[in-house]
Amino acid sequence: MALASDKQANEENELMLALPKERGLYGGPYLHLFQDFWCPSFYFQGVINFQKHFLAKDNDVFVASFPKSGTTWLKALTFVIVNHQRFSSFENHPLLSSNPHELVSSPEFILSHDLHDQLLSLSNMTEPRLFSTHLPFSSLPKTITESNCKIIYICRNPFDTFVSAWEFSTKIKSVSLPALTFEEAFEKFCNGISGFGPWWSHMLGYWNESKTRPDKVLFLKYEDLKEDTVFHVKRMVKFLGSSVTREEEGTTVIENMINLCRFEKMKDLEVNQSGYIHNIAEKKNFFRKGKIGDWINYFSPSMIEKFSKIIEEKLSGSGLSF
Ligand code: A3P
Repeated sequence: MALASDKQANEENELMLALPKERGLYGGPYLHLFQDFWCPSFYFQGVINFQKHFLAKDNDVFVASFPKSGTTWLKALTFVIVNHQRFSSFENHPLLSSNPHELVSSPEFILSHDLHDQLLSLSNMTEPRLFSTHLPFSSLPKTITESNCKIIYICRNPFDTFVSAWEFSTKIKSVSLPALTFEEAFEKFCNGISGFGPWWSHMLGYWNESKTRPDKVLFLKYEDLKEDTVFHVKRMVKFLGSSVTREEEGTTVIENMINLCRFEKMKDLEVNQSGYIHNIAEKKNFFRKGKIGDWINYFSPSMIEKFSKIIEEKLSGSGLSF
């Protein structure tokens, strides 16, 4: 297998520097317009390596999301379901001692360094392998879209997604540049400029695929998952195959799975109260309020009007609405 040489890495860095660039919401890294999405600088090399070198297996499972849409929750739920046979005890479960981001990693992040070793450890992972990604559907490696592996996507009302991203950005370790104001960040979000955005094409890419290939992509909304968790977790179980048998579905197994991943439960775990993910974001900041509709406390009437119009316009005719 051809591995990225220093020369290749330099060429890729030059490619990144030649792309249109914008300040990202998180104050520090720039975003580069690559393959029609805004790729954060610190992911760029990893995205290219992911596209070039990752080899999907038919039984792989991917959790896909636009950042701040409920990735942490979906990672936890999918991890419990996928590993149900392996970790059947809810009293002694890995989710009680590890953060979901430590249990489910993103190839676009881990393949940004030590490529050879990382590829080796990916190929040796226990199967079924579970990964996450923030890449838009159109930029996923062909090996994922063309194999039989499954994708569960979560999206969220763009108002709440923006507020969650904004709050997160005020707590993340900033790199040199002064932070954006709420209004500046909002303008960028309205124009689709945020990590892995535009948010509308991100959602629509997976939405359209879930309509044409419902066995390939399961499309979830954070709000629906909150409002009827049992129903949607059962959908996940069904979509992923027989990790939970039909007899067990009738018992408390599904309830136990949901309880393990409950916002309050996860937020209070010692493991989620200190330490960092990727040395950038504090684990506790992945658990803020976990509510629907917190956005109402942030926007002026004119912002609400403007953003509502954008949402309607961008999603019009797709069948997707919030
Ligand atoms: P808020 O900032 O609105 O509270 P992501 O995981 O994609 O970064 O998204 C983070 C959002 O999901 C945050 O929303 C966070 O509080 C919420 N969240 C994290 N864990 C959750 C859980 N177990 N259940 C519901 N929401 C959760």
